[in-house]
Amino acid sequence: MIKKIAFLIVLATMILAACAPAAPAATAAPQSKVATYADMTLCYPQLGAESDWRTANTASFKETAQKLGVKLIFSDAQQKQENQISAIRSCIQQGVDVIALPPVVETGWDAVLQEAKDANIPVIIVDRSVSADPSMYAAHIGSDMEIEGKRSAEEFNKLLPNGGNILELSGTTGSGAAVGRAKGFREALNPNIKILDSQTGNFTRAEGKPVMEAFLKKYEGQIDGVFFHNDDMAIGAVEAIKAAGIKPGDLKMVSIDGTRGGFQLMIDGWLNADVECNPLLGPQTMDLALKLMNKEAITKEVLTNESVFYPDKAAELLPSRQY
Ligand code: AHR
Repeated sequence: MIKKIAFLIVLATMILAACAPAAPAATAAPQSKVATYADMTLCYPQLGAESDWRTANTASFKETAQKLGVKLIFSDAQQKQENQISAIRSCIQQGVDVIALPPVVETGWDAVLQEAKDANIPVIIVDRSVSADPSMYAAHIGSDMEIEGKRSAEEFNKLLPNGGNILELSGTTGSGAAVGRAKGFREALNPNIKILDSQTGNFTRAEGKPVMEAFLKKYEGQIDGVFFHNDDMAIGAVEAIKAAGIKPGDLKMVSIDGTRGGFQLMIDGWLNADVECNPLLGPQTMDLALKLMNKEAITKEVLTNESVFYPDKAAELLPSRQY
């Protein structure tokens, strides 16, 4: 009897279990949405507006953002690192997706890069380099400043095969561009070419002119050539050179950037060569930023392909120059 009752209980349990509604399937893991440019807020704390190169770089970021539908948080630090740091902190507070930083100088970024890291916001270093450990940022996009310096030296080696005395108008002190260019230049310059003096013109026309005036007074009659770290300083310096009665061709001159202003100096006979430094970094940076948002594989160091421009092609190329 007891066995019969137990059998009936087991049977009833099985029937009830079979009739019970099916348990809901385990909820599928939410599919993470693939980000598009329209989802991106990009912070660009521009370092300043010191040169035509910089103006073209700013335009590249603004135009690319508009074209792609990226929300760009842009600021101008007026060549002051503290302003760039405040702008980055404000972007971190706003919870941007990616920060693209063109650093005015190489050192002093560790604390703010750590803050971005703690907030899980990737940082792309744009244009100039930083001295921080590469683990502190996601990637660097820009020119190889040392190669630009080397290319400039190679031009002087050709222009002054028997040696001579030259002067250097250097970029912003402590900037990756000035440090790299000066290093590459010295490494590749023939030993029979002597750098008489080197002073900063801070990458501007306004400061390039008085530096050149002072050089011309101090080294009157001793100068064979001048190396400029950018075209804007060359343009400022040429005003001083003209005022001193020096004629095109009297001094050998090499500059860096390849802006329209530099091309005009070549056409007018002042510059012997202009080493390219490309400011149009907006499209590549935003492409990389999107990859970072989607956790895709990226290249850590993206160097721009560049060349050297000469006076013989300057007039032909000038109309098609984008900056
Ligand atoms: O960092 C790039 C340099 O900065 C460019 O050569 C110069 O024109 C700019 O100001």
